[in-house]
Amino acid sequence: MNKKKEILTYFLVFIFRICSSADTIGPNQSLKDGDILVSSGNAFALGFFSPGKSRNRYIGIWYNKVPEQTVVWVANRDNPINGTSGVFAIDPAGNLVLSDESLNLSVWSTNVSSITLQKSSSAQLMETGNFVLFQDQSRSVIAWQSFDYPTNTILPNMKAGWNRRTGLNTFFRSWKSLDDPGTGEYLYKLELNGTPQFFLYKGSDWLWRTGPWNGLRWSGVPEMYPSFIYNISYVENDDEVTITSVMKDPSIFSRMVVKESGILERLTWQGSERGWARFWYAPKDQCDNYAHCGAYSNCDLLNLSEFECSCLPGFEPQQERQWYLREASYGCKRKKEESVCGNGEGFIKVTNAKVPDTSIALVNKNLGLTACQELCLKNCSCTACASANISGEGNGCITWHGNLVDIRQFPNNGQDLYIRVSAAELGIHNKFSKLSLISI
Ligand SMILES: *[C@@H]1O[C@H](CO)[C@@H](O)[C@H](O)[C@H]1NC(C)=O
Ligand SMILES: *[C@@H]1O[C@H](CO)[C@@H](O)[C@H](O)[C@H]1NC(C)=O
Ligand SMILES: *[C@@H]1O[C@H](CO)[C@@H](O)[C@H](O)[C@H]1NC(C)=O
Ligand SMILES: *[C@@H]1O[C@H](CO)[C@@H](O)[C@H](O)[C@H]1NC(C)=O
Ligand SMILES: *[C@@H]1O[C@H](CO)[C@@H](O)[C@H](O)[C@H]1NC(C)=O
Ligand SMILES: *[C@@H]1O[C@H](CO)[C@@H](O)[C@H](O)[C@H]1NC(C)=O
Ligand SMILES: *[C@@H]1O[C@H](CO)[C@@H](O)[C@H](O)[C@H]1NC(C)=O
Ligand SMILES: *[C@@H]1O[C@H](CO)[C@@H](O)[C@H](O)[C@H]1NC(C)=O
Repeated sequence: MNKKKEILTYFLVFIFRICSSADTIGPNQSLKDGDILVSSGNAFALGFFSPGKSRNRYIGIWYNKVPEQTVVWVANRDNPINGTSGVFAIDPAGNLVLSDESLNLSVWSTNVSSITLQKSSSAQLMETGNFVLFQDQSRSVIAWQSFDYPTNTILPNMKAGWNRRTGLNTFFRSWKSLDDPGTGEYLYKLELNGTPQFFLYKGSDWLWRTGPWNGLRWSGVPEMYPSFIYNISYVENDDEVTITSVMKDPSIFSRMVVKESGILERLTWQGSERGWARFWYAPKDQCDNYAHCGAYSNCDLLNLSEFECSCLPGFEPQQERQWYLREASYGCKRKKEESVCGNGEGFIKVTNAKVPDTSIALVNKNLGLTACQELCLKNCSCTACASANISGEGNGCITWHGNLVDIRQFPNNGQDLYIRVSAAELGIHNKFSKLSLISI
C-alpha cells in the first residue's frame, strides 16, 4: 500500500465527526460538510460554504453573529469541491487537510513539514477569527495559522507585513468575483525596498501606495488619526515589519478588504438593518492614482489654478503640449540653467505632503531635520528630504536620490517635504513668507 492510500484509509476508518459548537479539531476528528466550528465567544464560525450564486464548496471562516454571509478567510480558494463530499481533518502526520472523499483527492493542505508536527496536533478557531494549528495537543507551539495565510481580509489583531525571521510576507488578494473566492487580480502587499510601504496592485501595476510609516500614520493616509476606532501598532525591527490594529471596543466588527473592484475598504458592522458600512477606503481620487502627475510634480485637488497637477518649485512640464491638454503623466523636469550643485541652492518646503515613493529613498534613523538637510545638500544627487518620524519633535531622515514620484498635498495631516531648488528659485519663493527656506 502506498503512502497516500494509507492516509486515505486512515481517514475513512478512524475519523470521528466533530460535535457541534466545538472550536477545535483534534487528532482523529473531522469536519464534514454541514458541520461547523464556532469560536469560544461565538464571534466566528468555520465550515463549508458556497459564495454568492456559486454551488462550489469551500472551507471558510465567517462572522457567526452577522446574518449576511461575510467570509473573512478561505482555505481552498482555487480548488473548490463539487458537492458535499469534502472532509476537513488532521492527517496522521499532523497536517490539516481538506479532501474530496468521492474522488479520494486532497484539495488543500497546511503543508507544514511533518518533522515539526506531532501526531497529536490540533487546530482551534480563535475568537479573533484566527484558525491555529498547534504542533501538539497541549497547544503550546503554533505550527500554522490562517492569519499568516490570509485571503482578501485584514482582521483586527492580525499582523500584516513581513516576518524577517521566517521570511513570510503576508499579503491580501481580492476574490475573482462575489461568486468566486479564487485568486483575483488585486493585491495589497508590503514592499520593503527603501522604506517599507504597502502597495495596492492590479496584476503587477501599482495602483496606490500608503507611503512610508511616519511615526503617526502612513504618510498617504491622513485620515488615520488617534481618534480611530482602533489602536494601531507599527513595528519595524530586526524581527519584523508589521502593522496591527486592535479594536478599542472589541464588540465592534471591523474588517479591511481588498475588493474585487480594486478598492481597499474598511467596513464596520452596523447591525442587521444597516449592514456593513464603509469606514474608509482607497484609492479615493485622481491624486491617489500612483504617479498620476508624473515625476517632480505635485497633485493637489484643492489647487484650482489649472488642474490637479503642478510642477514642483524649480521644475517645469516635460511636455508643454501634453501638460496644456492636462495629460500629466510625462511629469516635470528641472528648469534649464538652474544649477543645484554648489551654487547657493537650498530647499523649499511643501507642507501637508504625502512624501514621494520611498522605494529608492535612503533612511537614517538617527539624524534630526537640520542634519538631514545638511546631508542632502552635501550630495548633489539628493533631490529632496524629510523627517522619517514626525511624532514629537520629528526625528530620522529620509533622502531621495533621483525621481520624486507620487507626491500629493492634503488639506491637513500631511507632512513637510523639502525640495532641493536653485538659488534663483529660492529668490523667487522668498516673497512668500509661508515657505521656509534653508540654504547654504
Ligand atoms: C487516533 O486513532 C489511532 C488509531 O485508532 C489511535 O492509535 C490514536 O491513539 C488516536 N489518537 C488520539 C489522540 O486519540
Ligand atoms: C459536479 O458534480 C455533478 C454531479 O456529479 C456533475 O454533473 C457536474 O458536472 C460537476 N461539476 C463540475 C464543475 O465538475
Ligand atoms: C478511495 O480509496 C479507497 C481506499 O483506498 C478505496 O477503497 C475506494 O474504492 C476509493 N474510492 C474511489 C472513488 O476511488
Ligand atoms: C501544498 O504543497 C503542494 C505540493 O507542493 C502544493 O501543490 C499546494 O499548493 C500546497 N498547498 C498550500 C495550501 O500551500
Ligand atoms: C488603546 O490605547 C489606549 C491608549 O494608549 C489604551 O489606554 C487602551 O487600553 C488601548 N486599547 C486596547 C484595546 O489596546
Ligand atoms: C497651483 O497650481 C499652479 C498652476 O499649476 C501652480 O503654479 C501653483 O504653484 C500651485 N499652487 C500650489 C500651492 O501648489
Ligand atoms: C550621493 O548619494 C548617492 C546615493 O546614496 C551615492 O551613491 C553617492 O556616492 C553619493 N555621493 C557623494 C559624493 O557622497
Ligand atoms: C518616533 O518618535 C517617537 C518620539 O519622538 C518615538 O517614541 C517613536 O518610537 C518613533 N517611532 C518610530 C517608528 O521610530
